[in-house]
Amino acid sequence: MEVIVAGNYDEMSRVSAHLIAKEIKKKHNLVLGLATGDTPIGTYKELVRIHKNEGLDFSKVTTFNLDEYLGLAPLNKTSYNYFMWENLFRHVNIHPGHTYVPQGNTEDPEEFCTWYEDQIKKAGGLDLQLLGIGRDGHIGFNEPGSSLASRTRVKALIKITIDDNAKFFDKPEDVPRFAITMGVGTIMEAKKLLLIANGKKKADVCAKFIEGPVTSQITATALQLHSHATVVLDEEAASVLSRREYYNWVRDNKHMVQKKIGR
Ligand code: F6R
Repeated sequence: MEVIVAGNYDEMSRVSAHLIAKEIKKKHNLVLGLATGDTPIGTYKELVRIHKNEGLDFSKVTTFNLDEYLGLAPLNKTSYNYFMWENLFRHVNIHPGHTYVPQGNTEDPEEFCTWYEDQIKKAGGLDLQLLGIGRDGHIGFNEPGSSLASRTRVKALIKITIDDNAKFFDKPEDVPRFAITMGVGTIMEAKKLLLIANGKKKADVCAKFIEGPVTSQITATALQLHSHATVVLDEEAASVLSRREYYNWVRDNKHMVQKKIGR
């Protein structure tokens, strides 16, 4: 796992957006997995800026979002679908038919989840999956105890997640208790993973998932088993990592490796 410690939230956002832009430039029809929440807002802003100022082309990109609250219609202002249109899709030249977000108000969630997995397969699989992390260590909405082999399904949210997401709703009792989420197994099949995290409140969980043992109690630890996972943290989220100096040394001396392998 490559760990990049950025100075602050803006730098974390810039670094992650540029990693995504690089993949889109390399492969115009990239299949890109996306996340919602507070963390990626800056990354999406920077991607929009790169699109507008540098012509980053989304016309052939296909996206699949990690999750959606069960019961929310796509146009509901608190839905993740709405979030994606507000923060990214409507600002870039992506084809609306190429944007997949789980349908929260589906009549048959089980059938929908199978269909969603099929669409990912039909698109050729995820090339790059962007992830955030919950304070309980979840990726997507794979709460503690989720199988590390799980597939897209309905998952009950735990209290810490419900409390953290209450800020997006008028009343705490409006926060949905269930979500449709890609499974850890689905996420792990992406060719590359990029996890971003910022702020002091993520520091403990970042140390645990990067440096602690792999466990279904912290589903982000599965990234340790992925052959191409990158983590970009701001200083605060990285503040209790025990090997921080090592990560910084690698970041600052990467050019030596590149020289050795002739890049
Ligand atoms: C959202 C998602 C979640 C969030 C996580 C962190 O699509 O998959 O795992 O990434 O809950 O949320 P924020 O960024 O709001 O701290």
